[in-house]
Amino acid sequence: GAPVEVEVASIGPGEMRTVEWRGKPVWIMHRTKAQLEGLVSKKHDAELADPNSDRPGYTPEYAKNEYRSRTPELFVAVGICTHLGCSPSPVFATGAQPGLPSDWAGGFFCPCHGSTFDLSGRVYSNKPAPDNLEVPPYTFSADGTRITIG
Ligand code: FES
Repeated sequence: GAPVEVEVASIGPGEMRTVEWRGKPVWIMHRTKAQLEGLVSKKHDAELADPNSDRPGYTPEYAKNEYRSRTPELFVAVGICTHLGCSPSPVFATGAQPGLPSDWAGGFFCPCHGSTFDLSGRVYSNKPAPDNLEVPPYTFSADGTRITIG
């Protein structure tokens, strides 16, 4: 499939856009400062199956960090559950929510079998999905206003 170029400068903090790449949905989300802060704690890491994205195949080298991205703010991920391929939904509200981890700081919920992912697409360890969401190959334009996926 051909690479897909997306203008990202107009995606505001807290906003997410979905584009198609190789027939798959790719999420592009601009995380807020508060959302980024919610991704960094030892307590949070302890709830995740693969907090450092060590498992092969889902995380390019440049995304092996707590934000799983080239720059902290912009999150780019394939929006397909690593369990059996359903499409998780964003749940950006925080705090106690039915069926979600108690200290929910925002993330993604898969309706098929209840897997949950944080705002870096890292899977919580108590549900069936085995791996973090896939980060596709992408690069920024020189001026940082666009990305090319693929
Ligand atoms: Fe997502 Fe099973 S397909 S939890």
